[in-house]
Amino acid sequence: MLNSTDLRINAERLWQDFQALSLIGATVDGQGVHRPALGPAHLEARRWFAQRVQHSGLELRIDSAGNHSGRLECAPAGAPTLLLGSHLDSVPNGGRYDGALGVLAALEVLRVVQKAGLRLPYHLEAIDFTDEEGTLVGLLGSAAFAGALNVEELRSPRGGREMLEAGLARAGLTEDGLLQAVRDPRTLAGYLELHIEQGPRLLNAGVSIGVVSAIVGICSYKVEFMGRADHAGTTPMQVRRDAGLGASAFSLAVRRVVMEQFPDCVANIGQLAYTPGAYNIVPERASLALELRAPEADSFARLEAALLEQARLAAQEHGLGLETHFLGLHQPTPMSPVAQRAIARAAAELGLSAMPLVSGAGHDAQSLAAICPAGMLFIPSQGGASHSPREFSLWEDCVNGANVLLQAATGYAKK
Ligand code: GLV
Ligand code: MN
Ligand code: MN
Repeated sequence: MLNSTDLRINAERLWQDFQALSLIGATVDGQGVHRPALGPAHLEARRWFAQRVQHSGLELRIDSAGNHSGRLECAPAGAPTLLLGSHLDSVPNGGRYDGALGVLAALEVLRVVQKAGLRLPYHLEAIDFTDEEGTLVGLLGSAAFAGALNVEELRSPRGGREMLEAGLARAGLTEDGLLQAVRDPRTLAGYLELHIEQGPRLLNAGVSIGVVSAIVGICSYKVEFMGRADHAGTTPMQVRRDAGLGASAFSLAVRRVVMEQFPDCVANIGQLAYTPGAYNIVPERASLALELRAPEADSFARLEAALLEQARLAAQEHGLGLETHFLGLHQPTPMSPVAQRAIARAAAELGLSAMPLVSGAGHDAQSLAAICPAGMLFIPSQGGASHSPREFSLWEDCVNGANVLLQAATGYAKK
């Protein structure tokens, strides 16, 4: 009789898929990928994925938020579905593994279970969520799926309203469709996601598998300092109201406050734009993209207040106006104990070392945790690098991760 613990993923087939997908939107250096959500390369990657699903004899589903999935009916009628997945979009000039590995491993798990003819107490679905990375909104497809889409976020998304509208039009999606993509939680048994760690902790500890215990909260703001445009050659230094000085003072203060007062948190200023923006004009307006992350709700609220206070002080010191625009929040999210146990047990059965980890990156599992038991497993990232073409994981680690996903998925209902 077939014992599901003997099943292994087909590493060669997974490798072929990984190689083929890495070519879609490949960066000029050939090391990374550029597949911002709903851009041409991302849409091409999704078409490729849809073909792989159909070629594998799985049922292809595309919901009204554009989430793409392959489905395997391997349980009695009316049984719930165990979702496995991640995302095929990337940050601009990103890496080949972030998201892609999780989607491909999910597809591979379904093919293995299908070929083995294994019957489970739940159906399996390998899903690729829309705009995980936040080029447009962030966790967009998974939030829509979970019925948590915030209409406010759609009105002023962090990538800008025009980008969102253009992306939806390119993909043949609509705002109404996004809001209607809700999946009934009663049909879900859970959600499991394989991902690269994107940091150095597993590597430093010499451990193969990270069992994610919680995912950090992420909050985004646009911060704008308003000064006065003046002639850069004739206006004395003492009388300038230079919006750039506010931005600079604020950037330094953010780093200092986080490092001194919030050692378990991080903050980033990832964009800075001056208006009018010329060599010979004192900046009238400086606009910053601020993102803050914290592992639990309490320090999150204090961090947010402390940084907004620093913006106020920077504006005051340099005689500037200040506007802060809240652009969205994903709360810190614990992972399900049931899912964590299934992952830890699978790693142990495969003889792989494992340790619990908090994820410093955001993931779709954050959205899913609100509607079903959700869990994640990490594999080591060489050099800890991610969101860069330098992102790299040993193929052996990818295969280990995919096998843990397979065992966690097939053994999910074990007590
Ligand atoms: C997604 O990868 C994020 O953490 O920004
Ligand atoms: Mn990711
Ligand atoms: Mn990412």
